[in-house]
Amino acid sequence: MAKLFDEFTIKDVTFKNRIVMAPMCMYSCHNQDGQVQDWHRIHYPTRAVGQVGLILLEATAVQPEGRISAQDLGIWSDDHISGLTELVSLMKSHGAKTGIQLAHAGRKATVDGDIYAPSPLAFNENYKTPNEMTKTDIKETVEAFKEATIRSKKAGFDVIELHGAHGYLINEFLSPLTNKRTDEYGGSEENRYRMLRETIDAVRSVWEGPLFVRISAHDYTEGGMTPEAYVTMTKWMKEQDVDLIDVSSGANVPASIDSFPGYQVTFSETIKHETPIATGAVGMITSPLQAEEILKNDRADLIFLARELLRDPYWPYRAAKELRTEIKSAVQYERGWL
Ligand SMILES: Cc1cc2nc3c(=O)[nH]c(=O)nc-3n(C[C@H](O)[C@H](O)[C@H](O)COP(=O)(O)O)c2cc1C
Repeated sequence: MAKLFDEFTIKDVTFKNRIVMAPMCMYSCHNQDGQVQDWHRIHYPTRAVGQVGLILLEATAVQPEGRISAQDLGIWSDDHISGLTELVSLMKSHGAKTGIQLAHAGRKATVDGDIYAPSPLAFNENYKTPNEMTKTDIKETVEAFKEATIRSKKAGFDVIELHGAHGYLINEFLSPLTNKRTDEYGGSEENRYRMLRETIDAVRSVWEGPLFVRISAHDYTEGGMTPEAYVTMTKWMKEQDVDLIDVSSGANVPASIDSFPGYQVTFSETIKHETPIATGAVGMITSPLQAEEILKNDRADLIFLARELLRDPYWPYRAAKELRTEIKSAVQYERGWL
């Protein structure tokens, strides 16, 4: 039996396999109100029919000013709960577990009005210069993550993932390249971690289920974060009852990245064994054998696929065939896979 199709349990949630749909922004809230649209109702449940074990919804903004774009999904208001509830129910009816990536874009927000970050540094000349967050701003944002968690719970999600990667707000606090604060939220590792610590504590006060954090394990820049530097922080995350680290990299500061198949898997391996904690590997993973190698060599616990699932929503069926494992398909499609 292929390990890719082994069950995996976190807390009281069992995923039927190790295949995770990585969060991917669809920029499809055409009314700019963060509401679920027909696109989401088709796109996500299709991957559930495709037998993906866990589907993570795209970066979903906890505050409107924290949207990457005005078309992002949102969860900053109770009005968002009903659309998300419907989406969860559509995915669950096809046997998938569901998660949501709670996000704040920080200095990479491209919405109208003021934007906020730990320090008043623009990402590059195409982005606005953010306002340096006051302690009150930080408190309000931490509270927004908590409120978003309560709404996610009401919508019925199985997993919460905090977006701490790709140069968005949490990542900006963690890295010394983007956090130049001189108060207790900047400087030492402990201080740069403080905003995430408070966010995890706030989320955990209302959420008993599986909690993931996505990190950018490498800044690819002198003086920036590395997988080894992250281990101190991932140990803290583990102490705070985070269940899994979703190990991505880059995009915190402009830097060139040499990406190749599995280029982030060694980062996952470092975080997994040095912390130690469960991890997800992501990044140019496309073939079932590659996924199997990562799992069998204990380099990660879950396989996150992004673009490959855009190309082929039924990748798990193909993977099962290639790895000579029998899996259940939707009854309606059985004749196609027998
Ligand atoms: C269309 C698209 C949208 C994305 N949106 C997000 C997002 O909302 N949150 C996130 O953490 N990563 C996002 N990513 C990054 C993916 O989750 C993933 O880490 C990256 O694409 C590498 O994996 P892949 O080689 O399997 O595509 C996005 C990627 C794509 C292609």
